Amino acid sequence: MRKTTLQKARTFEQRYHPHLSLSEQPRFHVTGGVGWINDPNGFSFYRGEYHLFYQYNPYDTKWGPMHWGHVTTTDFVHWKRLPCALAPDESYDKDGCFSGSALELPDGRQLLMYTGVRNVRRSNGVVDGYQTQCLAVGDGVDYQKFENNPVLDAKDLPEGGSAIDFRDPKIWYEDGKYWAVVGNRSADKSGSILLFESDDAFHWKFSSVLASCHNQFGKMWECPDFFALDGKHVLLVSPQNMTSMGLEFHPGNNTLCIIGRYDREKRHLLRDNTQSIDYGTDFYATQTLQTPDGRRIMIAWMQSWESSGCKVAELPFFGQMTLPRELGIRDGRLIQNPVHELEACRKTKVSYQNVMIVDETNLQGVSGRFLDMTVRVRAGNTNHMYRYFKINVAKDGERVTMIRHKPENNTIRVDRSRSGFPHDIVNVRDFPIAAKDELKLRIIMDRYSLEIFVNDGEQAASFVIYAPITADSISFSADGAAIIDVEKYDIEV
Ligand code: FRU
Repeated sequence: MRKTTLQKARTFEQRYHPHLSLSEQPRFHVTGGVGWINDPNGFSFYRGEYHLFYQYNPYDTKWGPMHWGHVTTTDFVHWKRLPCALAPDESYDKDGCFSGSALELPDGRQLLMYTGVRNVRRSNGVVDGYQTQCLAVGDGVDYQKFENNPVLDAKDLPEGGSAIDFRDPKIWYEDGKYWAVVGNRSADKSGSILLFESDDAFHWKFSSVLASCHNQFGKMWECPDFFALDGKHVLLVSPQNMTSMGLEFHPGNNTLCIIGRYDREKRHLLRDNTQSIDYGTDFYATQTLQTPDGRRIMIAWMQSWESSGCKVAELPFFGQMTLPRELGIRDGRLIQNPVHELEACRKTKVSYQNVMIVDETNLQGVSGRFLDMTVRVRAGNTNHMYRYFKINVAKDGERVTMIRHKPENNTIRVDRSRSGFPHDIVNVRDFPIAAKDELKLRIIMDRYSLEIFVNDGEQAASFVIYAPITADSISFSADGAAIIDVEKYDIEV
């Protein structure tokens, strides 16, 4: 019999989901519909569909008892809501079903691996959340928790590993075995990524320390993902408590991509290169899947923990996912571009070539808030590069979100101070880009978001915005002359 905690969440969804107002939801970015969401979980291909689960509190627009919400898609653009998949209803996960992942078992069932949290109050009143790794098995809609949960706990940790910071298993199958990477806090008080192995996906043992932070990139490393890509191996993690490092990493929660070589003997990742994954204000907790046609697709929570108390009061939901992105490696760096499936939703092409921009300019037909727009910009004067080039989007008399290129120091600044937030949060982000004669920006906008892809995916930057949907004007300006080409489509789903 289904547990009452899960049934309660499903009944709640049945009451609210049929009445969601489409004019309040993003068109092609996932939300919980109602309630709060954070990390993507269980992003995987199963029985002809892509499944996405997520950290979910159905009852409130703030973080709370963590359930797993559930949606599916066949194209990463149109999403179907499924009933809540997991609820915190066992002694080992009574304080939350935290992040995890999914895969298909040989017998055709879907396996979920997640972190169960159990709070224990110390005599001095401090509460410790003990974290263990747990399993659930199902048919793509209904899941049964495994009778021998948890399958990994404190006794499986290497010397000095914390039983309180031990979470977010990402599972995969390779070379006849199941593998999982899990985030852990090690004796030096910073993150390490532990590798575990299993012959049958139900009995697990410690394998190796795949990578360690050594207090270099923040503290605890959350939400690891590890995979081969374009001849290299990639580890994605979300570090907490970073201090800034130039323009590459900002203070607080970040995302880190380590590109390197996998030493299969020692089961250890040798680092070649490290970088930020996304340079915007709102991006955390990545997860990837591999499509049947071999693409590695990444999704993330398009939000920052630091501004997660800052919401627009009247909306019934809080938190959204990024647009899924196709990954690659070019010149030793991570490349990310919107899934190509989005192109099938492009409508009403408007294009311009060789437009000279000096003063603020509007181009007829170039406006809107649900769009996919590519702008190429180069110097308007052969002897002088412009000092600044700006694109203003989501603009009306009061609101504007500004994207500014400054060639002098090869940076892009995005300023969302006037993007409709009723809170004084981090609104300006500068990030470094490669110096080139021509800059190419692809801008994807949905009702509450702006995602920018620079130079065919060399950088990505994600921002939540809350300007009213009527703020849909777009303008271009330059200090010094710039020449632009624009190709703009509306996105209709
Ligand atoms: C990351 C995270 C995970 C954890 C989950 C809890 O955003 O802190 O480490 O599993 O959120 O909701």
